[in-house]
Amino acid sequence: MGQDDLKRAAARAALDYVVAGRIVGVGTGSTARCFIDALAGIKDKIAGAVASSEDTRRRLEAYGIKVYDLNDIDDLPVYIDGADEITPQLHMIKGGGGALTREKIIAAVTAKFVCIVDSSKSVDTLGRFPLPIEVIPMARAQVARELMRLGGRPTLREGFVTDNGNIILDVHGLHIADPVSLETALDHIVGIVASGLFARRPADVCLMGTDKGVVTLG
Ligand code: 5RP
Repeated sequence: MGQDDLKRAAARAALDYVVAGRIVGVGTGSTARCFIDALAGIKDKIAGAVASSEDTRRRLEAYGIKVYDLNDIDDLPVYIDGADEITPQLHMIKGGGGALTREKIIAAVTAKFVCIVDSSKSVDTLGRFPLPIEVIPMARAQVARELMRLGGRPTLREGFVTDNGNIILDVHGLHIADPVSLETALDHIVGIVASGLFARRPADVCLMGTDKGVVTLG
């Protein structure tokens, strides 16, 4: 099976976690897009969705799925999203699609974060994938200096502006032995809006598409 088949299989398996009659949180990226396609098949069974990006909002609305503002809902039973890397502890790097800040906000609200990936995303230690960091534009140079002090090599994601009007620095060369500590350190750098490290709030479940079928972790 190809990588796209494995993404689709994980996305379809996530339908089992959608709560009938409730709102579902929906992530961003190619695997999340597979989930949106699958969700469209059961759209009459859900109350609607919250979206982690403008791209996801548009795709949901194109299927006729009502999209709610996160501020208008009190709780969110489940959030389904992909990842760029995930460890056996369900710590993740996210943000390859640049939606990390909204993804992190929805992850903070939801009762259950279900991560959907193909097996290429599985790692023992995070950091081979460059860590995305959303940064206020005027803080770019200062944040880059701080990231170099932490041992990383930040590069500007050229021509990219986030849904929040900010820039992304992709940090290369990090071997993230302690993701919780690094996430905390990054949160203390002035000018960083959010990092793509999801360790303090990891996924609750990972559905991994493999050649032997969808494996559930967590
Ligand atoms: C977007 C994300 C995505 O979940 C992550 O980049 C994985 O994307 P894909 O499913 O296309 O591999 O965090 O900001």
